[in-house]
Amino acid sequence: MFAAMRGEKLESLHLFTDEPSGLEAIVAIHNTRLGPALGGCRYQPYASFEEATADAMRLARDMSYKGALAGLEYGGGKAVILRHPHVDNRAALFEAFGRSIESLRGRYLTAIDSGTSSADMDCIALHTRHVTSTTEAGDPSVHTASGVLMGMRAVARARLGQSNLRDVRIMLQGLGNVGYSLAEQLVAEGADVMVADLDPGRVRLAADELGVEPVALAGVYEAQCDIFAPCGLGAVLNFDTVSQLRCAAVAGAANNQLADAAVAEQLVSRGILYAPDYVINAGGLLYVALTHQGVAPGVIAGRIEQIEERLDSIFQQSEAEARSPATIADQQAEAILFS
Ligand code: NAI
Repeated sequence: MFAAMRGEKLESLHLFTDEPSGLEAIVAIHNTRLGPALGGCRYQPYASFEEATADAMRLARDMSYKGALAGLEYGGGKAVILRHPHVDNRAALFEAFGRSIESLRGRYLTAIDSGTSSADMDCIALHTRHVTSTTEAGDPSVHTASGVLMGMRAVARARLGQSNLRDVRIMLQGLGNVGYSLAEQLVAEGADVMVADLDPGRVRLAADELGVEPVALAGVYEAQCDIFAPCGLGAVLNFDTVSQLRCAAVAGAANNQLADAAVAEQLVSRGILYAPDYVINAGGLLYVALTHQGVAPGVIAGRIEQIEERLDSIFQQSEAEARSPATIADQQAEAILFS
């Protein structure tokens, strides 16, 4: 375990149990150089404790990189609550987790993530103030979408020679909380939007309400477009899918889009510009972190807009040094976190 922690440069790993509620939770704190570790709480089944721990550690590291490049005074952390079928009192479970977080005395600040809801955060908030994305704080998805829109402007400038998204053809994969909001914002900007989702109901809704063009799931990667926007699950960019792409750039909200690091080089060799996922999708993180600090909404919106400038600088450095944008982003984050 210590070797795995050293491998991820993890500061600490905390395990919590609570017999009455059935809580079994892991909190991974990656880096607190910039401030307390901030990161979501996942609630899902895992095949083993080792798998859950590895997930928490990797995700905590990703949060450090994301926070560093978003200019936040927070480090990276992540929590995983193991989902067991015998646990039936959800409120008691999350209240117990709230007490666990409180025992860390502010070193870790939790948030909504896969499998958790604002209602769960409300239960945590009964026992600690080190929690964001409660019902009162609001859903970060729309802010994630706004940040992606800003990032797409940087992409359009770098690759299409225009600073707005008017008539830019975008293939949007995934119409969930972020994807649907992004589709709305893109249509308002005058973009030409195609959409696909595993759920045909979401696609129908978007086509009816927004006038976007539905694309069959099988045709998503081959769709001729300017920007391919992955907004569903992670790891959608692999050797096979990247060879099918017919776009000038990839820019979307999904976390961990690259199935492995070599895919970044494949994108470069195909002449496809890649907006590093943790840079372009930081709008939601900025929203939850700054809302927690009591920053005014107008100031938060301005910080989310800066995603555009951050990507401008990454693309320029990538061009100047002939290295992939993913490599440049990692180097910029590591300079902040470890130098
Ligand atoms: P969500 O669960 O609300 O929506 C995901 C949507 O993608 C669903 O409608 C699902 O049917 C669809 N989908 C999944 N795989 C697909 C595929 N292969 N083809 C087409 N559609 C597919 O999730 P949400 O919150 O919208 O997040 C989307 C992505 O953005 C996730 O990867 C998430 O980790 C990431 N993200 C979300 C943030 C947020 O503020 N919600 C913040 C940063 C990243």
